[in-house]
Amino acid sequence: MTVSTNPATATETTPEGQTPAERARALRDTLGQFTTGVTVVTTVDSSGEPVGMTVNSFNSVSLDPALILWSIDRSALSYSAFTQGQGFAVHVLKGDQQHVSNLFAGRGADKFGQVKWHTGPGGIPQLDDCAALFHCRRVQNIDGGDHTILLGEVVEFSATGGDPLVFHCGRYRALAGE
Ligand SMILES: Cc1cc2nc3c(=O)[nH]c(=O)nc-3n(C[C@H](O)[C@H](O)[C@H](O)COP(=O)(O)O)c2cc1C
Repeated sequence: MTVSTNPATATETTPEGQTPAERARALRDTLGQFTTGVTVVTTVDSSGEPVGMTVNSFNSVSLDPALILWSIDRSALSYSAFTQGQGFAVHVLKGDQQHVSNLFAGRGADKFGQVKWHTGPGGIPQLDDCAALFHCRRVQNIDGGDHTILLGEVVEFSATGGDPLVFHCGRYRALAGE
């Protein structure tokens, strides 16, 4: 199926009768073909309370300077904390941490009562277990439509490695053999 998201050409290439909701669903499903890892991003809100959310929009940007990005939905409860905070920590999840991903994908849930964590550099909450960790200073917010792209400068990082948690077509997956 070919679907155009350009309003100027949408009526030409979108199957007749497709509603905006159906078109959005088709775009989401098509984007889901792109396989990603899964991260949990954490920070503190203006009261100093830990906040965090599951994110798969994480990506590397630059080695020198060391920059990464991820995007946050404008409707996320933790939106203000992340877009106004000094920084955040990105935790790359391991293959056996699907429960952690589900926990931090819960909207406004009590997320930190159910995982082991401690206070890391800059007062940012740090999960005890993950495959890789990036402590970042927030350097820029970039408008990204219904999301905001957060650009972070990596100030500390570490990796324990191991099998990663993989996300594809809306489902967790295991890596195929070597
Ligand atoms: C695998 C996975 C990846 C996700 N990636 C993102 C993302 O990149 N950006 C985002 O805003 N939400 C993403 N979400 C959704 C948030 O985790 C979810 O909306 C969460 O409830 C937000 O928490 P909050 O509303 O308490 O801030 C993802 C969810 C899952 C399960």
